[in-house]
Amino acid sequence: MSGQKIVVLGTGGTIAGTSAQAGDNIGYTAAQVGVARLLEAVPGLQAMAGTLLAEQVAQIDSKDMDGEVWRALALRCAHHLTDPEVRGIVITHGTDTLEETAWFLHQVLDARKPVVLTCAMRPATALTPDGPQNLLDAVAVATAPGATGVLTVAAGEVHGARHVQKVHPYRVHAFTSGDVGPLAFVEEGAVRLTQNWPPSLDGKAQIAIEKIANIATWPRVEIVVSHAGATGAVVDVLVRDGVQGLVVACTGNGTIHHALEAALVRAQAAGVKVVRSTRCPLGQVLPKPGDVLADSRGLSPVKARIALMLDLLR
Ligand code: SIN
Repeated sequence: MSGQKIVVLGTGGTIAGTSAQAGDNIGYTAAQVGVARLLEAVPGLQAMAGTLLAEQVAQIDSKDMDGEVWRALALRCAHHLTDPEVRGIVITHGTDTLEETAWFLHQVLDARKPVVLTCAMRPATALTPDGPQNLLDAVAVATAPGATGVLTVAAGEVHGARHVQKVHPYRVHAFTSGDVGPLAFVEEGAVRLTQNWPPSLDGKAQIAIEKIANIATWPRVEIVVSHAGATGAVVDVLVRDGVQGLVVACTGNGTIHHALEAALVRAQAAGVKVVRSTRCPLGQVLPKPGDVLADSRGLSPVKARIALMLDLLR
């Protein structure tokens, strides 16, 4: 049995953004308001004040997310998840790399309790900010009976770390799980499940978290895109520069411009790990016998990059 405490870890993002001009939805600065103040601004959370513990892990625009913030966040999550007083964790985060942080945490945490990332598409100073409702909904998910795993909550939808993807740069309803659909909806504080909660990693993840606490340098993995007129020049430069892994965002079902493909095959022969994902926003690469380059097993290019970084760490 776990306790009642909900830990809310702040990392920045538009949810903590402000604009000099009230109502400006694009000309604002992300990551200005501390997470404790964000919580105070949500009327529905005031009754829970005694059970909410706010902690500021970072204060950044998530376009600048990096391994050091991920490390700090993963270690704070791992710490709080082992506290029997803690029921779940909420993380406030920018929308731009939310899916990457969610996937990273999913890979490294033994999330038998819910770890819920939430965000906003409108800054705190907007005429209709979406952050307060998203925060309230994230706490509802973190306290939902049986909730487990790394989850994201925005615009009334709950998504799992594996499939969630930001697909719109402006609309409040910016996230989807593509073909798979949302895991659940949050309606007036009630969580309506449409699928099972994601299973936890059953202790396997703990090894990774210890490694993450001690790594000196993150493996260098870059993403290249196959497109009309592509060449292998970028790959050749990256290999000379010491890249350890390459994810290629392929056309269609994992196909690559012949010039880029030749460079990737050379890179692989030189010891660089190469993984194919697809540029298509829906579906995944279906592997064929005889494929020379591995596929990402359904991960988008940005998530395949994280999986490859963790593979290289192992
Ligand atoms: C960010 O990702 O930190 C800025 C954009 C956003 O949160 O919507």
